Amino acid sequence: MRGPSSRTRAANRFPAGFLWAVATSAYQVEGAAGEDGRGDSIWDRFCRQPGAVANGDTGDVTADHYHRWREDVDVMAELGLNAYRFSIAWPRLFPEGRGRLNRRGLAFYDRLVDALLEHDIAPLATLYHWDLPAALEDEGGWLERSTVDAFGEYAAACFEALGDRVTTWFTINEPWVVAVLGYQAGIHAPGIRDFRSGLVAAHHLLLAHGRAVEAFRRSGKPGRIGPVLSLWPTYPASDSPGDRAAAVGSDGYTNRWFLDPLLRASYPEDTRKLFESVAGPLDFVRDGDLAVIGMPSDLLGVNYYTRRVVRASAEGHLPWAVVPASPGVPHDDRGWEVVPDALFDLLVRLRDDYGNIPLIITENGGVFHDAPRPDGRVTDAGRSDLLDGHLAAAARAIAAGVRLEGYCHWSLLDNFEWAEGYRWRFGLVWVDYPTGARTIKDSARAYAAIIRANRS
Ligand code: FCB
Repeated sequence: MRGPSSRTRAANRFPAGFLWAVATSAYQVEGAAGEDGRGDSIWDRFCRQPGAVANGDTGDVTADHYHRWREDVDVMAELGLNAYRFSIAWPRLFPEGRGRLNRRGLAFYDRLVDALLEHDIAPLATLYHWDLPAALEDEGGWLERSTVDAFGEYAAACFEALGDRVTTWFTINEPWVVAVLGYQAGIHAPGIRDFRSGLVAAHHLLLAHGRAVEAFRRSGKPGRIGPVLSLWPTYPASDSPGDRAAAVGSDGYTNRWFLDPLLRASYPEDTRKLFESVAGPLDFVRDGDLAVIGMPSDLLGVNYYTRRVVRASAEGHLPWAVVPASPGVPHDDRGWEVVPDALFDLLVRLRDDYGNIPLIITENGGVFHDAPRPDGRVTDAGRSDLLDGHLAAAARAIAAGVRLEGYCHWSLLDNFEWAEGYRWRFGLVWVDYPTGARTIKDSARAYAAIIRANRS
């Protein structure tokens, strides 16, 4: 890893107004699962299935942000953040997925948004960060178009209720992860293992995004809206034509299948052919869908964690395999490579291939397990280095003409990391489970110093 002397590299290279932020999501931090009329989501249900989540962990309490939000907003202010990305829990607003709006659930976000604005912290709200109301799953969830309709209604209700104060909206978080982990690999809710179902879910998630954009434009509220994608810069393991083709194929699967419809209103032909050869005709794509999905967005949220290196392979049903992390490359405590240069490549590629749309890095971070020392300090130098390296790459991209407008570190708090439960810690702030007590880690102080240097 880089030494501390490189820590100042990210200083003073960011434009005025750059958004210095952290990100969380509702199910991962809120807890209060049964409070104030909240309905069950597919994640509440999934956590109850034996063996689904490490240690049998659940999000019932997690970081208890639902009760400690005031303290958390104070921490954000103390760190000098000027924006906060959070998600709205659909089942808090619509316990049955649609129909009756639960005012008590909405009141939480009202209070949160007001407190953020009082501290000059811009709220960046995500509408869907994976907590589909369980009642909609009973009707088929993302495999059904009726869920897209319900999402459009929910989105419109959010704009109506909060659109006077929230002016940056994100629609769907990481449709690739939802489709692949939730519907193809079955390791996320709702736990389905079927390749074609993943394609259907992905299409409906994209369509839901488009419906939300339509609803936002119709609402007449001021502000900006866009999707959030998990993007994986992809490199061939060697220069061989086979590996190079594998990298193009894998890029189609993880990146272009989402970027192209959202930003060019069409699915990439090579990937479509590949999917049809595996799963049959994609007849769930109907006339007019791509015009809805491709409704112009105002910005794109980029979640970047690591690169993918792939080689040609005939072992699975897709003709490539992901190569394990290279031993010489720095990695976090879950073994994911830490490669800031790949973030630079990704941002420049988005500039070149997708019309230089305004970007916000909506997530970036890593797992580092440093626990409080006896004197209470958390000395997570690995996370500080990760932050510094990625911000330096971001600054380089801005200098190269990329319209990058902000950076959200994942995450403010240690929290419930989906199928991994609490065993992976991503926070700038340590959470002591189950008391919920918070300790600001050294990495948060390092981030605050970078922010100060750039805002002064
Ligand atoms: C992303 C998710 C986010 C968090 C991070 C570590 O894929 O969007 O909720 O789990 O990974």
